[in-house]
Amino acid sequence: MATAAAPSILDVRADFPIFGRRIDGRPLVYLDSAATSQKPESVIAAIDDYYRRHNANIHRGVYTLAQEATEMFEGARERVAAFAGGQTETTIFTRNATEAINLVAYAWGREHVGPGDAVLITQMEHHSNIVPWQLLCEETGAELRYLDVSDEGKLSLEQLDAELARGDVKLVACAHISNVLGTINPVAEIVGRARSAGAVTLIDGSQAAPQMPIDVGALGPDFYAWTGHKALGPTGIGVLHGRRELLERMRPFLGGGDMIRTVDFQRSTWNDLPWKFEAGTSMVAEGVGLGAAVDYLTGLQMESVRAHERELVGYALERLREVAGVRVIGPRTAEERGGVISFELEGIHPHDVADLVNRENVCIRAGHHCAMPLMRRLGVPATARASFGPYNDRSDVDALIGALAQARQVFGV
Ligand SMILES: Cc1ncc(COP(=O)(O)O)c(C=O)c1O
Repeated sequence: MATAAAPSILDVRADFPIFGRRIDGRPLVYLDSAATSQKPESVIAAIDDYYRRHNANIHRGVYTLAQEATEMFEGARERVAAFAGGQTETTIFTRNATEAINLVAYAWGREHVGPGDAVLITQMEHHSNIVPWQLLCEETGAELRYLDVSDEGKLSLEQLDAELARGDVKLVACAHISNVLGTINPVAEIVGRARSAGAVTLIDGSQAAPQMPIDVGALGPDFYAWTGHKALGPTGIGVLHGRRELLERMRPFLGGGDMIRTVDFQRSTWNDLPWKFEAGTSMVAEGVGLGAAVDYLTGLQMESVRAHERELVGYALERLREVAGVRVIGPRTAEERGGVISFELEGIHPHDVADLVNRENVCIRAGHHCAMPLMRRLGVPATARASFGPYNDRSDVDALIGALAQARQVFGV
């Protein structure tokens, strides 16, 4: 058995006020960061400070508060862009990753995809990266095709090549890290091959941006989407990095205030990037909060966040082997995975597993994780899922293992 005393690479739990919380007198073991992350004090304070001292509508006011609010929001955009290796003008704020993907499906897809074309996604996508393409294909008469997921939770580049060789693929959309399997997909390879075949690419980085260094410039996709609340930021803000040439040619997604340059009775012209895609009053406090979140993550260094989570996943995989009846789903090694472990416990439904470990204040997820096609592919109705953030350490894994052993006792398995 590995020792729980081994030091964590990061030791930051004290930065997260929620861990001061006791439930029934006992500490919180939060293992659901793939669903949403906890927030450091600096993020909470930035939002609080914005509302207490700077709140005003942005972009239009000439008075001091309005200028401060605008600078805070646009300054956050600069830091968010830099955090992911993107450019400020092509970093668009959306409500979440789901809206970022829908933006592409509507504003790019409706213009460029038609009958006889194909959209290629994978069997491991979150519903957010499936349903917008289903709607697009239904409306345009295009075909939606899938790359298979192997029994070990991986994609095949040979199958990708074969699909691209058919000559009809207009768009390839794929998760950077699967929220169920934990698989880190070879996105640079996927993007390179798709691009050579003339296909546009969208990478769903919702699980990757919070836990590994991202450089969208080097990865090279046409679009890269992620969501603030999984990256220590607030809910209500997501990010779309887009290729400038495409964004400039695209029609707007939503129409209204702020996204226009001029409006006449019959026609309008569009604002510059990125505001052309940000209709209406922006989520200013949320943008400021996300700026504070990327400052915090940058301070930790994303290489350290990745190393920390890899170490924890390695430890968790090892310790889960000690629990009889556990079957871990997805790649075998921590190197191939992000900080997500889905598993089954023989003889106990995943919902019961989550319920029983909750008695020990261990928060894990059970269900289809918004990936019903993947559940079908895996032949399971649901899985239990533990996932990690920078604030977790080995004691959280130990608490999970202990709670699983107790769950087995309760069920007599
Ligand atoms: C891989 C992946 N994509 C997209 C999403 C959707 O994120 P949001 O609901 O914030 O848009 C999630 C959230 O669970 C996810 O894990």
